Amino acid sequence: MKLVALIGSPRKGGNTDTLLQQVAEGYKAQGGEIQTFYLNELNLRGCQGCYACKKTGQCAVKDDTTEIYKAINGADAVVIGSPVYFGRFTAQLGLVLDRLFAYLKPDFSSSLAPGKKYGLVFVQNQPDPKLYAGCIEALAQVLSRVGFAAGTKPLVGSGLGAADAASQNEQYLQNAYALGKELATANK
Ligand SMILES: Cc1cc2nc3c(=O)[nH]c(=O)nc-3n(C[C@H](O)[C@H](O)[C@H](O)COP(=O)(O)O)c2cc1C
Repeated sequence: MKLVALIGSPRKGGNTDTLLQQVAEGYKAQGGEIQTFYLNELNLRGCQGCYACKKTGQCAVKDDTTEIYKAINGADAVVIGSPVYFGRFTAQLGLVLDRLFAYLKPDFSSSLAPGKKYGLVFVQNQPDPKLYAGCIEALAQVLSRVGFAAGTKPLVGSGLGAADAASQNEQYLQNAYALGKELATANK
């Protein structure tokens, strides 16, 4: 049982990272293993719109996304975390999301193995957790479009400004741990 964690925040040890580590703990407690990608540390390019993937089934851009594809292919579930930046997810995450286009076949059906679950974690400074629901929904739509199975309820950590804010919020830590357990249970 394997979970891939994609961390879209450049702030290592910040709120996204803290909550995704808790998701990982919850998943591990159920016997699962985790592979984590700090997207900001990778060599990533955006989709080049060349449509080579529609001919060959593979993305033509050779960068660290190749490792992410491999990890997703071998995983049971994916958890994606991002801070809200100007009302949306980070550019680092956006690069990877566009590259998931390679999972769509020429007829735009999905080549992803069925049944891969996903979890979403967003953190934001604003206190209203529903403020960026449109952004979360947009991300869920991308994942559904490329063939992921229904996601778990997104976790939104609102009112988190300083990098250590999530680490001091027991409720969010517990919710993140529970999300990890839920993703694992869904895979059993
Ligand atoms: C460039 C930038 C844009 C941001 N835009 C928003 C925003 O639109 N709404 C919001 O609530 N917080 C915004 N924030 C605050 C972050 O979402 C917040 O501090 C979050 O907890 C950072 O997560 P991290 O510690 O994982 O990096 C922004 C922060 C930065 C650096």
